[in-house]
Amino acid sequence: MNTAEQFMKDRLQSRTDNGSLRNLSSSHLPVDFCSNDYLGFARSTMLKEQIDQELNKHSLYQNGSGGSRLLSGNTEYTEETESFIAVFHQAQAALIFNSGYDANLGLLSCLAQRGDTIISDELIHASLVDGARLTYASRYTFRHNDLNDLETKLKNAKGNSYVVTESVYSMDGDTAPLPEISALCDRYNANLIVDEAHALGIIGDHGKGLVQHLGLQDKVFARVVTFGKALGCHGAAVLGSLALRQYLINFARSFIYTTAAPIHTIAAVKCAYQMLLTTDFSLIIREKIKHYADLANTTGLNHPAPTPSAIQTLIHPGNTAARTAAALLQNKGIDVRAILSPTVHAGQERLRICLHTYNTDEEIKQLATELAQLKSNE
Ligand SMILES: Cc1ncc(COP(=O)(O)O)c(C=O)c1O
Repeated sequence: MNTAEQFMKDRLQSRTDNGSLRNLSSSHLPVDFCSNDYLGFARSTMLKEQIDQELNKHSLYQNGSGGSRLLSGNTEYTEETESFIAVFHQAQAALIFNSGYDANLGLLSCLAQRGDTIISDELIHASLVDGARLTYASRYTFRHNDLNDLETKLKNAKGNSYVVTESVYSMDGDTAPLPEISALCDRYNANLIVDEAHALGIIGDHGKGLVQHLGLQDKVFARVVTFGKALGCHGAAVLGSLALRQYLINFARSFIYTTAAPIHTIAAVKCAYQMLLTTDFSLIIREKIKHYADLANTTGLNHPAPTPSAIQTLIHPGNTAARTAAALLQNKGIDVRAILSPTVHAGQERLRICLHTYNTDEEIKQLATELAQLKSNE
């Protein structure tokens, strides 16, 4: 056999052996506790109608953008949407990327140079890790949310330094101590980069995110907001200064060397932001989060404690244990997915539960009851 074929077969076999083989599945169970469609925008007929109206109003009828933003793929409408997003987030400027992965990759990979330092929380998303890996900067991690460890790393930082965190962590649902991290960045003259993928739509007034909720928008060097989660669309934006936007247009390779999103994607994002403005959906999702937290407390499910975000976690160490627990729920029509190692550290395999505005109180109660049952069978 060809050695490359053999190499792939061996690697896949070792994934099968340790229970971490990934497979695509197109099945969707009736009760959704797994998608990132926290506010139900991806399935919203109201949003669909608003997008249709927006496309008609502006006669935006192209199927594809026809090129990268720097060639034929840019439109006034895209730039107006970026300005709209910037105003919503009290930022000087916004620049749209085709996905959150692209935004993080492009942002990190072009900022830090040889002699600079990137210090990131150990639990940041793979897209941020990959962006940092593409640089020649020195890279360090600090223990999750550990300010002392961060300060130790900051003391030794050289050149321009960048501290990278999420505001709501994607796998744990907990939040970063941003005021304290920002104060440390001030003290050590470091630039703070915050990924708000799971905070947008959920945290703060009208779901503007944790940074604005804490009034830190002028302290943060760059924020990343993604559109594929609470906004139910696709894409992302980097928020920051006008200089940062101009810099990314010139140096972020995942922005430069790719076809721009089609105009209906941009219109969808604009309409989704308009929906966030007109109705404060974060109030509805917070009710659901509270309902889950109350039930988790009464049924003894607080392991780890319920979080303030739409993401809740139950640790079931071991890939097989986590998969078995998820399968038991799935057999009852409840769509909860297991998160396996290596996506999370070995021993931290878990059920990741996502709450949504469209989950009924009855569904949340059923989930909590089933989870309590699982726990008592352990
Ligand atoms: C924290 C975080 N950042 C970035 C991304 C990537 O965003 P996208 O799905 O738009 O590529 C994700 C997606 O899982 C995420 O959880």
